[in-house]
Amino acid sequence: MFGASAARDRLPRLWNDSCIHLHQRWAICKGMAFQPSKFCLLPLRGCTNPVALDSDFPSAKTTLSNHDRMGLSCPNPYGRYPHGTLDLETSNPDRLVFDIEKLLIATDIMNPKKIDIGGSHLDVIDVGEGPTILFVHGFPLDHRMWKFQIEHLAEKFRLICPDLPGFGKSPASHNRPTMRGFAEDLAALLNALNIEQPVCYCGLSMGGYIGWQFQKYFPDRVSRLIACDTRAASDTEQVRRARKIAAQTVMTTGAAPVAESMIEKLFYHRNVKHNKKMVTEVREVISSTQPSSIASGQLAMSERPDQTERLSQINIPTLFVVGEFDKITTPQEVQEDSSLVPNSSLLIIPDAGHLPPLENHIEFNRGLLEFLNPSMHLPLPPENAT
Ligand code: MLT
Repeated sequence: MFGASAARDRLPRLWNDSCIHLHQRWAICKGMAFQPSKFCLLPLRGCTNPVALDSDFPSAKTTLSNHDRMGLSCPNPYGRYPHGTLDLETSNPDRLVFDIEKLLIATDIMNPKKIDIGGSHLDVIDVGEGPTILFVHGFPLDHRMWKFQIEHLAEKFRLICPDLPGFGKSPASHNRPTMRGFAEDLAALLNALNIEQPVCYCGLSMGGYIGWQFQKYFPDRVSRLIACDTRAASDTEQVRRARKIAAQTVMTTGAAPVAESMIEKLFYHRNVKHNKKMVTEVREVISSTQPSSIASGQLAMSERPDQTERLSQINIPTLFVVGEFDKITTPQEVQEDSSLVPNSSLLIIPDAGHLPPLENHIEFNRGLLEFLNPSMHLPLPPENAT
């Protein structure tokens, strides 16, 4: 098992090169290739034109013209490199080839550790160095929804990305979970990791509901809040009823139909069509969640208290983020919540639905970095890169 720093040493060019945009699934690296049936090229130091060639991306054609402009002799990359090694090192030695996710797993960066939180444990990604960001996933997902943040931000921050109890690989530890109970688990996690300094809390949807509780009951532990695609209001009666029915249904149907029905709601429809890999991964995460955790998560959310009154008392810098096409938590709702928090800003992420950290991670990461440190800028991708 390698620690984060050791793992990073094994990727010196990847992690140390601020020119690399980890927004594409495939980077190209001389001498290494992992099934590049889909890939993109990423620039290394001194290279200003990233090129994306990934059939998952809707604008692959546009980026292909970038590719041409760069004069690479790779006229039909999909046909030419269907399975294996990519040979660009001969035509351009400045390129790297990686499947980012496999690479992160292979180097232990994306391998969760089990952290004892007293009577139970959580599976947690703990990677990077610097100020801590605690990333809390939505329902019914796990830490993998933050994979692009894990790729991109571990160079500047310590990232803590737990699987909440009952989700991902963390065992369920509550008979009857509540948003507050989850917040207490997160505080116990920070204790177990000896993190005493206040953290930046970043939660998406259910992770945001938990965030209100975390900020309320552990105010000394939060220096900044990022509320993504979430709301302060509690459920309407109609939604509560629907959740109760959903909780009963999943116990007989299992998780797979839940996954199916959620996909359309979670993603911007163009991403469902054009980014099948992302959709498949999320479908698999949901399908492999225990039905009992889905049921108890629904009930816990249905019982969450309304936090709207408290918004005006939140006195730390707060960033509200929402996907332009989020159907679950609309930009209008998020904008209204944002207007009630004194020191807040709002970021609407284009081309994204309910999951901007996955759907448009370039804009998401950029907004997050600007919020965390306005002087810290990501290198901009070319205008037409995906
Ligand atoms: C989530 O993404 O966490 C859920 O969609 C939240 C909810 O069902 O209210």
